[in-house]
Amino acid sequence: ATPSEPYDAIIIGGGPGGYVAAIKAAQHGLKVRPLSTDVLYPLSFSGVSLNLPQMLKAKEDAVTTLTKGIEVLFKQNKVDYIKGTASFVSPTRLSVQLNDGGQTEVEAKNIIIATGSEVTPFPGGAIEIDEEQIVSSTGALELKKVPEKMVVIGGGIIGLEMGSVWSRLGAQVTVVEFLGAIGGAGIDEEIAKQFQRSLTKQGLKFMLNTKVISAEKKDGKVFIKTEGAKGGKEETLDADVVLVAVGRRPYTEGLNIEKAGVELDPKGRVVIDDQFNTSVKGIKCIGDVTFGPMLAHKAEEEGQSILEIRPHRARTRELSRHSSVVYTHPEVAWVGKTEQELKAAGVEYKIGKFPFMANSRAKTNLDTEGLVKFITEKETDRILGVHIIGPNAGEMIAEGVLAVEYGASSEDIARTCHAHPTLSEAFKEAAMAAYDKAIHF
Ligand code: NAI
Repeated sequence: ATPSEPYDAIIIGGGPGGYVAAIKAAQHGLKVRPLSTDVLYPLSFSGVSLNLPQMLKAKEDAVTTLTKGIEVLFKQNKVDYIKGTASFVSPTRLSVQLNDGGQTEVEAKNIIIATGSEVTPFPGGAIEIDEEQIVSSTGALELKKVPEKMVVIGGGIIGLEMGSVWSRLGAQVTVVEFLGAIGGAGIDEEIAKQFQRSLTKQGLKFMLNTKVISAEKKDGKVFIKTEGAKGGKEETLDADVVLVAVGRRPYTEGLNIEKAGVELDPKGRVVIDDQFNTSVKGIKCIGDVTFGPMLAHKAEEEGQSILEIRPHRARTRELSRHSSVVYTHPEVAWVGKTEQELKAAGVEYKIGKFPFMANSRAKTNLDTEGLVKFITEKETDRILGVHIIGPNAGEMIAEGVLAVEYGASSEDIARTCHAHPTLSEAFKEAAMAAYDKAIHF
């Protein structure tokens, strides 16, 4: 198709949601064209090397390889794509400022908004990100040398992942968190406590129930003012580098979304129904820019679901089925409900836990920190949540997601044979502990 011919679908955004939707649509015979400014992918890495330039180069190479891989998939699936910035002219027409200069217009019956999110700036402009001394996650992945002292504002996933990377490379890291626990939304309180203990052992310092109010650059340092979350107890910290990790927000800037008549909620999220339809017919939306957790795999799943052509298999949004993984060491991963959520909802539940200390593979690997925790409905034994801290938690949680997705009980898992010697035996034994009793603990 030439740019002037209408497409079946145009996808705005080439991130994990957009590119998956594009490939799926092309596989189903639609003529599609994603528009992207940059293919951005949240990236986590862990490193012990002191050769920082080499480590950063390895990261760059990985990003390039992954990005190129997507372009190859586009070619294989005959997906057209334009690199540029799109803005709505009408509900079916977009004007695109091309990255290589110039401008074009494209039209389609269906448009999918998959523009993602951006770093939330510090409220009130009290802290300005320069990506050198005061950095967001972007700058934190590109520091030219290991800072002696680093202060991380926000103990959510980004703050902990980035903070623990630089701590491992030798920085003295202090995390300031407004809430009484680390790990961000959705983490089980018991796991969060153990997580904090593990990171503290590694040398990270935590100031909980503490709010950062400002940060000022002076004489090559940054001075950070904090106070108690409920006021009082002011303190000033100094650092060589400050990481601002206080969340991300939906990204719709420049999209001229009002022109199309698409409704946003007060948080700036695109409002959708449970079939991903926005308030305007023909315009759908997926990923970080709409409801739900801001996770690459959640966006990918939605990109796939949105184009499901077999109506009996069409999926609606089901938020509890996305796992969360914190790529630190030990890793932390979970799916479903937390104990505190169930308590608050008055649900009667049972707990089954198994420590990696009692797992033969973890012992052999000398990597025994952590545990697997199952939460089941007391009356039915149905699995409501699985929470893991420990080796390979991010891989292991896939079995938890499968269990929750298929409505499994802890007995189902407990009666499923898991190979010996593997870490996954800890998963089975935690299920056994919920259903009956574990063998090895
Ligand atoms: P977050 O919302 O998870 O955590 C931000 C933390 O900052 C909160 O705990 C909040 O209480 C705290 N905070 C806010 N203002 C503060 C202040 N003035 N002083 C002290 N603390 C303050 O946000 P984060 O970590 O920036 O991550 C953004 C999004 O990106 C999340 O949705 C996260 O799930 C996602 N993400 C996920 C990754 C993964 O799955 N591995 C990797 C990177 C990002």
